Amino acid sequence: MSVFESAHFDGHEQVVFCHDEATGLRAIIALHNTNRGPALGGCRMWNYANEDEAVTDALRLSRGMTYKNALADLPWGGGKSVILGDAKTDKTPAMMRAMGRMVDRLGGAYIVAEDVGTTPDDMTEVRKGTSHVKGVQGEGGDPSPATAYGVFAGLKASVKAKLGRDSLAGIRIAVQGLGNVGFELARLAREAGAVLTVSDINTSMLEKAERELGATVVAPDAIYDADVDVFAPCALGATLNAQTIPRLNASVVAGSANNQLATEADGEALRRRGVLYAPDYLINAGGVIHIFHEGPGYDRKAAFEHVGRIGAVLTDIYARAAADGVPTQAAADRLAEEKFQLGFSPRQAA
Ligand SMILES: NC(=O)c1ccc[n+]([C@@H]2O[C@H](COP(=O)([O-])OP(=O)(O)OC[C@H]3O[C@@H](n4cnc5c(N)ncnc54)[C@H](O)[C@@H]3O)[C@@H](O)[C@H]2O)c1
Repeated sequence: MSVFESAHFDGHEQVVFCHDEATGLRAIIALHNTNRGPALGGCRMWNYANEDEAVTDALRLSRGMTYKNALADLPWGGGKSVILGDAKTDKTPAMMRAMGRMVDRLGGAYIVAEDVGTTPDDMTEVRKGTSHVKGVQGEGGDPSPATAYGVFAGLKASVKAKLGRDSLAGIRIAVQGLGNVGFELARLAREAGAVLTVSDINTSMLEKAERELGATVVAPDAIYDADVDVFAPCALGATLNAQTIPRLNASVVAGSANNQLATEADGEALRRRGVLYAPDYLINAGGVIHIFHEGPGYDRKAAFEHVGRIGAVLTDIYARAAADGVPTQAAADRLAEEKFQLGFSPRQAA
């Protein structure tokens, strides 16, 4: 595979192949764009079928971080790293330290954090090789409450934009997936007066939601047909597709899952149907915003206020999408591009 010719190359600034003989580390670090600052993005460890698949994942994910960090008003560009291997059987503390040394060689152009297949404990090992790391055990904590709060803020802004309602009182919300983010989102929505329908494949969470939140439980596949105002996908990717979109009764989609649209055409399908879609990489940015605030002098109130600004950015994107007659995802991409092409100025984040 030619990296420069890859369909996902998209002007990447730097792509680094890393190998450490002693620990067996094989990794790729991709830096998409650093106009706004050092490229921040997680380190994914995955058993890729081959090297091409790993390169494609690194390029795709690092580009996504440029857009996400720009819309979240962070002084960071976008990057990502992938380690080739099975996180359960191949990962060792020495390998993570070697990864830290590889990150360090980039002199701060890349800041690494945890992702699928890596943990806060792994970042503690990475820290032994570099100071350019976030999400270290004991310093960051679980980002999920911040992610859920961001989705909650975004959901409220979306309800205001579509239904003209300032409050969630009586608003019917279907939450798909009651994991770390979904359950907390459901709890916040319930406190704000929403009426919940929920699904999960894990029955213990369903019982908890029935008991503590008065939620109505439906079977996993039935969530798409629920008679609700808002659909909140908080489980898997690609749940908005040609099969599910025609089934939705909701007029707002606002949830935490990554890569909710199966294809770009699904954004247009939602628009045509009159469904307001909160672009996933913006509404679920609370976790990365929280990472920005962690460390010495951590101020929870300031961090959550920053996360809450997701609502205002969404409102802006909805206005732009309506004015331009484009899907909200396209309007979000355009705004992100404006922001990262411009670079970062502290006034932007004020
Ligand atoms: N945790 C974060 O801070 C964060 C940040 C950004 C994006 N996200 C995304 O948000 C989503 C949820 O994250 P999480 O941390 O809560 O994950 P999680 O693993 O804690 O929760 C996912 C839940 O979805 C359920 N689920 C799986 N398949 C399902 C199905 N077919 N129908 C209904 N439920 C199903 C699982 O049983 C689980 O309870 C993921 O897509 C994740 O990538 C999370």
